[in-house]
Amino acid sequence: MRLNNPPRPLPLPSKEELDSIQPLVNLVCHDIESNGGKLPFSEFMEKTLYSPGIGYYNSDKQIFGDKGDFITAPEMTPLFSRCLARQVQQVLTELDGNSDIIEFGAGAGTMACDILIELESQNSLPQHYYIGEISSTLKERQKTTIKQRIPHLIDRIIWVNDMPEEFRGIVLGNEVIDAMPVHRVRINQNKQHEELFVTYRDSQLEWVSGEPSCKLLKTTLDEIFTKYGDNLPDHYETEVNLAANKWITDIAQKLDKGLILLIDYGFSENEFFRPERQEGTLMCHYRHCAHGDALTHIGLQDITSHVNFTAIAEAAHESGLTVSGFTNQTYFLISCGLESFLSEIDINDTKLFIKETQPVKQLILPDEMGDLFKVIAFTKSINQPLIGFSANNVLDRL
Ligand SMILES: C[S@@+](CC[C@H](N)C(=O)[O-])C[C@H]1O[C@@H](n2cnc3c(N)ncnc32)[C@H](O)[C@@H]1O
Repeated sequence: MRLNNPPRPLPLPSKEELDSIQPLVNLVCHDIESNGGKLPFSEFMEKTLYSPGIGYYNSDKQIFGDKGDFITAPEMTPLFSRCLARQVQQVLTELDGNSDIIEFGAGAGTMACDILIELESQNSLPQHYYIGEISSTLKERQKTTIKQRIPHLIDRIIWVNDMPEEFRGIVLGNEVIDAMPVHRVRINQNKQHEELFVTYRDSQLEWVSGEPSCKLLKTTLDEIFTKYGDNLPDHYETEVNLAANKWITDIAQKLDKGLILLIDYGFSENEFFRPERQEGTLMCHYRHCAHGDALTHIGLQDITSHVNFTAIAEAAHESGLTVSGFTNQTYFLISCGLESFLSEIDINDTKLFIKETQPVKQLILPDEMGDLFKVIAFTKSINQPLIGFSANNVLDRL
């Protein structure tokens, strides 16, 4: 998603919107009460984003695009997905047929269509294109997009709840990890680290601190403190994404041979735990306004956190994957042939040229999405160096 929209006041929801979220507000308040008065933020985030029928990603609300809350790279230009398809094609060729693609969190289904169109043009279609999507509303949205754009390929597309066992092929995810529920925590110089919970007081949702709600979180906080505590101010607030580590471990166990390619915004760990990020990296989006208040506009706004790529790389490595590539979005797209795609645009048609190149600038300029967005690749039994990391591969930064 584009993150540098000019700052502006958070728009107020309409009366209809406020009415529509009442069931979600009731559910959250009920869960807070039945959980002893406070809910781990990870559970709050899970409920507000994914509750069946009423969570943000499961509502009828328009999420993506100008009339929604944010826009992602595949929605900005098909060139993003065409570049990805080049990386996918390289590995599909090495796997020599008999292999599939699975895309997690496929949003509106745009990237799936553009990747399949590009692979078809190169005679490199996979056997199946699985979509692992947890939102039933978005599954329907994806089916509509695919039926409209690539009806002749719909038989290859299979929706699944989980990664298939003994999978051979390519796993893709654009902006999926940032949408996973995170624990919100506070690191203290006296080593009594706390978790931040959500409570309900005087008709308001509020933060309240307490002991970490699980042992793994406590151990993780102790480890972060041991590594970075000397440089962090007291009461440093941040997020821990345990769900992402579990997710990649599950994928690693089921991947027989192939590539996992994840694109998201975030940092390596030593950049993530910088003193200046003392309020953490939570980011909410409502009608293209980005802000940090996750307890407002619930069910109407997206909630995300930046990705700690080192943590996910460690979990992948421990599960037997090879960490093969780490770079920023600019280098990755250029290495996958962005310039050659751009050269296909007729430079004499000024209007078209501007229309098609403007979003590309947003994808690659360092103060837009080019540097904040990273691409990480994990492989199993893949021998060749990946083309997407040929210009720049900074594994040592992880
Ligand atoms: C920010 S949207 C990105 C959508 C799309 N990839 C794009 O770039 O436009 C996050 C997507 O991830 C999905 N999602 C979040 N957690 C997931 C999980 N554990 N498994 C599968 N999908 C997930 C959401 O439902 C949504 O489709």
